[in-house]
Amino acid sequence: MRIPDVYSNVLGLIGNTPLVHISSLSVKGKGQVYAKLENANPSGSVKDRIVKFMLENAAKTGLLKGVDTIVEASSGNTAISIAMLAARFGLKAKLFIPSDTSAEKKQLIKSFGAEMYCVSSGTPYEGCTDYMQAARVYAKGDRKSYLLDQYNNALNTEAHFHGLGKEVSSSLGKKINFFVATGSTGGTISGVGRQLKENDKRTQVILADPQGSIYYSHFYGTRAERRDLLRRSKVEGAGKTMAAQNMDFGVIDRVVQFNDAAAVEMTFHLHQHESLIVGLSSGANALVASRIAREVTGPANIVTVFPDAGSRYLSKLTDVEWLESLKI
Ligand SMILES: Cc1ncc(COP(=O)(O)O)c(C=O)c1O
Repeated sequence: MRIPDVYSNVLGLIGNTPLVHISSLSVKGKGQVYAKLENANPSGSVKDRIVKFMLENAAKTGLLKGVDTIVEASSGNTAISIAMLAARFGLKAKLFIPSDTSAEKKQLIKSFGAEMYCVSSGTPYEGCTDYMQAARVYAKGDRKSYLLDQYNNALNTEAHFHGLGKEVSSSLGKKINFFVATGSTGGTISGVGRQLKENDKRTQVILADPQGSIYYSHFYGTRAERRDLLRRSKVEGAGKTMAAQNMDFGVIDRVVQFNDAAAVEMTFHLHQHESLIVGLSSGANALVASRIAREVTGPANIVTVFPDAGSRYLSKLTDVEWLESLKI
């Protein structure tokens, strides 16, 4: 029997997540789907990897000298991770999130003792109706704060290049034909994609993008026609209405659009048929991965990522009105 390692604190528990075969979405003799279970990280999401990497880097390079507060804009998971890890660096956290972030994510942020601002047109912060703008405005006015800036800070992508990317490329032990992921900041797909392509340039990197996100139109160069159709996805952590600097279109081979309702239905499928309680963007990734598994004409390995746990969306997944708004 292997005796478990003893870690000196929570930082050592980040990463080295399991990879699981998703048999119900795999096709005999064709596409085999595998998913990296990022809910196994201590705060329950993939974002622990970037927050640890970015804070350690900022501390090492002196950027945290005189700083007492970490500031960030996040759709929820990065905020939870900062709320959990700031204390390990002797810092407080001030977090700006969109008002429609799930109730469970807001509860987690509060339970870690962080200050949280829910920003929307109905609840603006200092005149800002956008959570990213609100975080920037706050950080500018507080000289003792440090804005982590996951959307523009290249260390986000670098964290995934060295961490998740290396784990994905080494854990399957077989050729990876496709990697599928949604993009918000773009850090996951850009960092993992770059690592996989450095290992084998034939690996195809596929962005799963919700209808209404700017990334599809950006990639296919149809931006002007689609501007009026841009809207926020109900799948937290998928798509954007403004492209983030960390999204590296150079590593992406193809963008596959999905519809929010189908992603939510796939999330229920993963809960009920794979016994994996994963979040909405996991459903989106599984949906696109399963399309690829059926589309290929011969054997192929498709790896995707399940970024967080389904327990943080139960209030939405059991809300009849929310489901009806998606026509489910
Ligand atoms: C649940 C979830 N899935 C996927 C993503 C997308 O990851 P990235 O920001 O690296 O593109 C995020 C990011 O916010 C997320 O919270």
